[in-house]
Amino acid sequence: MRVGVLTGGGDCPGLNAVIRAVVKRAVKTYGWEVVGIRHGWRGLLIEEIDALGLDDVAGILPRGGTILGTSRTNPYKDPQGEAKIRAALEKHGIGALIAIGGEDTLGAANKLAAAGMPVVGVPKTIDNDVNGTDYTFGFDTALSIATEAIDRLHTTAESHDRVMVVEVMGRHAGWIGLQSGIAGGADLILIPEFPVTIREICEVVRRRHDQGKSFSIVVVSEGAQVSDNEGKSIFVPGDKRDAFGHVRLGGIAPTIADLIEAGTGFETRYTVLGHIQRGGSPTAFDRVLGSRFGVAAVDLVARRGFGRMVAIQGTQIVDLPLAEAVGSMKVVGPDLYETARVFFS
Ligand code: F6P
Repeated sequence: MRVGVLTGGGDCPGLNAVIRAVVKRAVKTYGWEVVGIRHGWRGLLIEEIDALGLDDVAGILPRGGTILGTSRTNPYKDPQGEAKIRAALEKHGIGALIAIGGEDTLGAANKLAAAGMPVVGVPKTIDNDVNGTDYTFGFDTALSIATEAIDRLHTTAESHDRVMVVEVMGRHAGWIGLQSGIAGGADLILIPEFPVTIREICEVVRRRHDQGKSFSIVVVSEGAQVSDNEGKSIFVPGDKRDAFGHVRLGGIAPTIADLIEAGTGFETRYTVLGHIQRGGSPTAFDRVLGSRFGVAAVDLVARRGFGRMVAIQGTQIVDLPLAEAVGSMKVVGPDLYETARVFFS
């Protein structure tokens, strides 16, 4: 059998661990061949497909990014996309396809599987927002990077008696913001799931300063729902959208910092961590999770579990229908946010 593997959507640390595990499991355990599809779904549409052997994956475990390249290409934007993918799989003799990606990539994988193609999914994203899995690899690395940044910003904020606003990724779900905020001892955490007004933000900062503290750390997810005192969202979406129709985010922190300074009179600065959170070497946790997912995805192919996705629930690797994982997102619930609030000022 020939197995194809692709990585789609935003990259994240741990993708190479999955690719390496797929190749090792497929070649060594089952005696199969593996081909790598370049740049996500685009590589199937334009047939950028190369052999991927044991030598190709040697030494890639600690490397960030993806040796296959990635893109946000949506195969369903092309009216012929599904037919082109079916034809490419047939032409290249690909008997099973392992699609590694987040909500968008897995959504396309689900449609292709429903159309009868032999696809299995592996969930990835630093945002940790895929349904059906407790963790996606990449999240732990992003969380470590964000926490280290907050630690560093703490010392400079304290030295200068400043408010520091730290923006992290998280479009619909505030997992990075919530957990890095707790781990870094933030005084306030703003995430998409729990809307807040500028007045409330300023009250928290003022209260802390009334308690004798001269600096504050505010962690904000890029997709946080923050409104001005008239109830109008402070986020003004730009024109730029990706192939799945998502507005480009990033840059809410400067506005929040200006409004905090205007509302409290305290000197305020901001830092946008951006793609630094997605780059570099994966943590040990992400390397292990990626390796387990890669092995499990090949085993799922061996069981002909097409239309399904591997996942981790508790400590166990499981699999579930792709249809259950896509369509809605795993967001931060009130219990966890309530725990975080204990540490707000
Ligand atoms: O991978 C998801 C994500 O990290 C989102 O949190 C963020 O909005 C998006 O990627 C940005 O990705 P890019 O700028 O690469 O399109």
